[in-house]
Amino acid sequence: MKSYKIAVIPGDGTGPEVIREGLKVLKAVGKLEGISYEFENYPFGGEHYLKTKEVLPDSALKEFLKKDAIYLGAIGHPDVKPGILERGVLLKIRFDLDQYINLRPVKLYEGVWTPLKDKGPKEVDFVVVRENTEGLYVGKGHFENKGTKKEVAIQESVNTYKGVERCVRYAFEFTRKRNKRKKLTLCGKTNVLNFAHDLWQRVFNEVAKKYPDITTDYAHVDATCMWMVKNPEWFDVIVTDNMFGDIITDLGAMIQGGMGIAAGGNLNPEKVSMFEPIGGSAPKYTGKNVINPLAAIAAGQMMLEHLGEVKAAERIENAIRYITQHKLKSLSAGKMGYSTTEVGDLVVKHLDGVR
Ligand code: IPM
Ligand code: MN
Repeated sequence: MKSYKIAVIPGDGTGPEVIREGLKVLKAVGKLEGISYEFENYPFGGEHYLKTKEVLPDSALKEFLKKDAIYLGAIGHPDVKPGILERGVLLKIRFDLDQYINLRPVKLYEGVWTPLKDKGPKEVDFVVVRENTEGLYVGKGHFENKGTKKEVAIQESVNTYKGVERCVRYAFEFTRKRNKRKKLTLCGKTNVLNFAHDLWQRVFNEVAKKYPDITTDYAHVDATCMWMVKNPEWFDVIVTDNMFGDIITDLGAMIQGGMGIAAGGNLNPEKVSMFEPIGGSAPKYTGKNVINPLAAIAAGQMMLEHLGEVKAAERIENAIRYITQHKLKSLSAGKMGYSTTEVGDLVVKHLDGVR
């Protein structure tokens, strides 16, 4: 029997509630597919920080390196100044473990409501490959004349050949493996970001030469937003920088049915990757058993797929597909027609593929 060591960080707000359901599903599918796990729980997040002043110790990062994957709920607490936990936990893991790809599928399932008129599962099915360790997220910059009327705040976007190349190459490989429309769109802003996206465009063109089977395209980020709403079927895989990837994947989440279903993977293809629902900690729904756990469950599915457990991942996806089509009234918190716990149970019930 295959066994995986998984670090679990339930985190803040509704994080623990959705992770509980995710673990339930992982265990159930493990039984069916002969997979076992050693889960180790880590307390990091807002409550832990307020109690202990500890954000994320280096010792934990060292331990994470010995795991097969990390499973994260949500980070963010209303009583903690914005940035401390985001930078101290989430971004620190992404950066220190060099999880240089943020993979975010945008997939609308049958029967799920989308705000896009006349668009369905056939039209909304693409993946965003977001660079995850560079760009504006490096936190570089400075103030000049801080606090005066002459203040200038400089925020630098750092884009290295190495960082861009490995991300773009991953995106080409992924597009080939995905084997759908075999089309990769570079999303940037080459008409304005004359340094950063000049590099991105050059690297993209260079790497493209090695993938003659992939159709390439380019769209500015503003136009990308427009096309995602107007003609989402034009996209197969989109590759983009950290900041733009952050923004367009929230839009992506909305057109696939909301934060309740949107999952992502922070990948280091050579080391340890982390899987998470992409929505936040949703403080107002905390403890009410009303939040939708499907995004966390889908993150678990991505984790299994990444670990090579393709059949187990497929079982989860099929169960999600089935219950979104036939059971849930909505994917929004409190409107599903089921509690958080019940949605987890429903997924478990349909893992065997029997309808
Ligand atoms: C996300 C989040 C994070 C990001 C925040 C919490 C730092 O919005 O995972 O998309 O900007 O990457
Ligand atoms: Mn985001």
